[in-house]
Amino acid sequence: MTYSIIGTGNVGKALARQFARSGISVGIANTRGPDSIASMVEELGDKVVPLALQEALKADVIILAVPFWAHRDVAKAAPTWQGKVVIDATNAYGVPVSDLDNLPSSAIVAKALPGAYLVKAFNHLPAGVLAQEPGTAGGSRAIFLSSDDEGATATVAALVAKLGYAPISLGKIAEGGQLVQARDKNWAPLIFQDLFKKEQ
Ligand SMILES: NC(=O)c1ccc[n+]([C@@H]2O[C@H](COP(=O)([O-])OP(=O)(O)OC[C@H]3O[C@@H](n4cnc5c(N)ncnc54)[C@H](OP(=O)(O)O)[C@@H]3O)[C@@H](O)[C@H]2O)c1
Repeated sequence: MTYSIIGTGNVGKALARQFARSGISVGIANTRGPDSIASMVEELGDKVVPLALQEALKADVIILAVPFWAHRDVAKAAPTWQGKVVIDATNAYGVPVSDLDNLPSSAIVAKALPGAYLVKAFNHLPAGVLAQEPGTAGGSRAIFLSSDDEGATATVAALVAKLGYAPISLGKIAEGGQLVQARDKNWAPLIFQDLFKKEQ
């Protein structure tokens, strides 16, 4: 399984840090090319591999850590999305719901990526929290997953666990997933809830 992160900002870097800490290779890309990511590799180590966007989009599992509307440009940059698992870490905070056809923002992202299996995850915590160690003496930080595809949820849950978090599935995007969808200027109830799952 290969992984990549699109976006080297607050969230992209926080997640790259977790891959590096867990010893899992991850490609990472932005709009400016691999040279612009060199200092991040110096800081985080060589498990984080700077790539051109088109190369990063060849991964099996792609994390979208870009501003909400930038998903449309990322969508156009891949020749196909067929069979890809896409982790949507974006929030459409401040986007009027009328601009989203009144749908959850992740449904809009999914529509732009035909053939991909989308899982919403990592969007409910501030980047500064995502950059912290996911484990404490008492347990592991919860990461909520929502998706319309159970197989993709299982793939992402396995990754989330390997990164040291506790994956918690909320079910389908339009059902339990609504608990983590920003709508207009409202944050859904689970956004910002920094919860831990106790070790059994
Ligand atoms: N900040 C938070 O605390 C937080 C927490 C949870 C979720 N989120 C959500 O996560 C997403 C990212 O937030 P952020 O704070 O990390 O944003 P950010 O710091 O502004 O970083 C955005 C990154 O996306 C890249 N990007 C933009 N358009 C792109 C494109 N077409 N192709 C490839 N890369 C592109 C930018 O590339 P360049 O560097 O080349 O400009 C930049 O690296 C947003 O949707 C946000 O709502 C944010």
